[in-house]
Amino acid sequence: MAEKIFEIVDAAGSKYEYRPGLEDVIAAPTTICYIDGNKGILLYRGVPIEEMAAHATFEETAFFLLFDHLPSRKELADFDAKLKAHRELPGAVIKLLQSFPPLANPMDLLRTAVSALGLLDDDPENDSVEKNTARAMQLIAAFPAILGVIQRQRKGLQPVKPHMEGSHAAHVLQQISGEAADEYAAKVLDVCLVLHADHSFNASAFTARVCISSLTDMYSAITAAVGSLKGPLHGGANTEVMTSLLEIGSLEKVEPWVMERLKNKGKVMGFGHRVYKTYDPRARLLSQYSEKLAQKTGNMKWYLMSREMERVMEREVASRGIYPNVDFFSASVYYYLGIEPELFTPIFAVSRISGWTAHVLEQSRNNRLYRPDAVYQGPMNVKYVPIENR
Ligand code: SDX
Repeated sequence: MAEKIFEIVDAAGSKYEYRPGLEDVIAAPTTICYIDGNKGILLYRGVPIEEMAAHATFEETAFFLLFDHLPSRKELADFDAKLKAHRELPGAVIKLLQSFPPLANPMDLLRTAVSALGLLDDDPENDSVEKNTARAMQLIAAFPAILGVIQRQRKGLQPVKPHMEGSHAAHVLQQISGEAADEYAAKVLDVCLVLHADHSFNASAFTARVCISSLTDMYSAITAAVGSLKGPLHGGANTEVMTSLLEIGSLEKVEPWVMERLKNKGKVMGFGHRVYKTYDPRARLLSQYSEKLAQKTGNMKWYLMSREMERVMEREVASRGIYPNVDFFSASVYYYLGIEPELFTPIFAVSRISGWTAHVLEQSRNNRLYRPDAVYQGPMNVKYVPIENR
């Protein structure tokens, strides 16, 4: 895709360089995540995402992002115990969620629950690193139960009490299904949570950083980040991918659907990326799990349709640097795991809360208020006209 740098002129005729969407603009230094969009490289604090996906659990990954080193056995055990100790949601938050329409948008409910947790904080004026780190862990711990309340009430059911044993991923599945998680499903979801944990200055992480830069509180920053992730250009794309596959319905209809969409200058969700101009390394790993789940369930349909969509898009737009991104194959993986499309983006948030909170802590350590400039193109020296003369 062509470099997107424009020259624009202000009302006084002065010329400026303008980069829509802040493309390629450096906002701050970071040590959390490295991306090489041309080579398709993604590192969490220097460790390749392929290594993290193959060997690390989500709990290890969340610790790594928050504390900038891989945990020792003891550190991991302590961290895991702290997460487990906060698996249960406060009753007030459950009641609040249950006071809304059962089919309200799950991301709106998640955003509201984060905001409500802020109102229950036991020491709201305390913005120390220790307290904000504790808040980060409590938020990571709370997200699965929030999804549980949301999903159960969509079914007209009461939330289930969290199990205190089992992985974070198993806890997510137990909360949304009401039953103990299948071991293989929990393992696959754990890999998905590792893959979605952070991605440098993506829209929602940057939203959190801009928010906390005014020295507001962690909950306000995370509430804002949830709002940003909901958007279909960002985290909301995974739900859109599954909606497209369900709408297309069969393998032979994929190509005509894609060609029609491209002809009408529409976006094929799950493809393209501001940074990756080659295959998103996370998509490559997720495609392997989509294939494994297709074989395991005996239902090849969604995997084969995804591959067909990928084949057509590669022929039509790969030359413009448009490839599958993280949201493309995660859609079929989550669907094979029995998760409903409306919950796909909240599942993205269950993982990304770890990255968001790591960015909030990093921004707070070396903060300066974000306040970019703008080029004014409106009229100048306009006289005020009293209302009787308008
Ligand atoms: C995520 O930033 C991150 O790191 C995000 C993320 C993370 O982990 O946090 O990786 C997660 O958000 C992944 C992206 C999920 N979104 C989608 O799948 C939505 C579909 N993709 C597009 O909307 C788009 O590719 C974006 C938003 C992801 C990136 O958009 P850009 O960089 O602003 O690029 P653009 O919209 O200016 O597109 C450039 C050209 C345009 O054509 P022209 O106007 O130049 O003719 O490429 C075309 C676009 O129309 N294009 C697509 C396309 N994506 C870009 N055409 C068809 N289908 C697509 N998916």
